Amino acid sequence: LTLIPAVAQKTKFTADEYNEALKEAHEKLLQNKDGANADYIPVLAEVPSDLFGISICTVDGEIYDIGDSEHRFSIQSISKVFTLAMVMQRLGIRAIPDTIGVNATGRPFNSIVAIEVQPDRPSNSCVNAGAIATTSLVEGDTYDEKWNNIITTFSKFAGRDLDVDQEVYESEAATNNRNRAIAHLLEAYNRMYFDPVEATDIYTKQCAISVNSHDLAVMSATLANGGVNPQTKEKIIDEKYLPHIMAVMCTAGLYDDSGLWLYYVGLPGKSGVGGGVIAVAPGRFGIAAFSPRLDVAGNSVRGVRAIIEVSRKLGVNLF
Ligand code: DON
Repeated sequence: LTLIPAVAQKTKFTADEYNEALKEAHEKLLQNKDGANADYIPVLAEVPSDLFGISICTVDGEIYDIGDSEHRFSIQSISKVFTLAMVMQRLGIRAIPDTIGVNATGRPFNSIVAIEVQPDRPSNSCVNAGAIATTSLVEGDTYDEKWNNIITTFSKFAGRDLDVDQEVYESEAATNNRNRAIAHLLEAYNRMYFDPVEATDIYTKQCAISVNSHDLAVMSATLANGGVNPQTKEKIIDEKYLPHIMAVMCTAGLYDDSGLWLYYVGLPGKSGVGGGVIAVAPGRFGIAAFSPRLDVAGNSVRGVRAIIEVSRKLGVNLF
């Protein structure tokens, strides 16, 4: 597993190089059956486990897809990056460490202990507590205003009108007492900035937005391209925020396995329990992989490995 140091890397790749890297990773991992679907959100357990897709979108807007790249799944925690982007655009760089936090918790993504041991120090937008706090800070005075801002902005990131998987939303809304507890605990520590029940519900709906790996590649390519969607050419977020968003992704994008991810991939990434994973190669491309079976940390087994393979093959480790 030899990585190419940043100083020795190529910056441009041909279509053949992208397609070859995707094909190799897909073939190598196709038979891998490690891990298991998330089942704490009941309907996620029913998603066919063998689905496997990978997509790349370059900063020039070229798309490369392989496998089940059209299959729709719920974005889940990958949404956390894009609500962070919205809130950073709204409140500025300096507000984020104080209101939400940018440090790692070193604990599972839905940890309550992490809040309890450091109530004076906020958490991180990439874990549930920080993410619900982030959603509570999205612009809008009402539930509907906040939600409309989220779905509209996410659609701009993807370059098409996204919608919610109602079944996933209802399944999680019926079972999300833990996230509601997190929101109430944050409220008790003055770190919740909207009604905790409504903020949790908006967060749950945002996690149920339906995407495929193709959409996620465009969304992450928008981050790779300085906040401009490389397909629609629309500017979604100011360039100056991107280094800060990507730093938060590096710190906790793959939860308590973020260090291991950074060690092998060297790119900002984010995973979701729906089986999606994204990574951003700044100035080059966004990549997304989808495979429902997760490891114990909650990260897609083949999704993570696919991105390790492709990024190693192309040589895009930031370091
Ligand atoms: O809040 C939850 O538990 C889910 N809506 C999202 C969690 C998630 O995706 C963590 N990912 N690995």
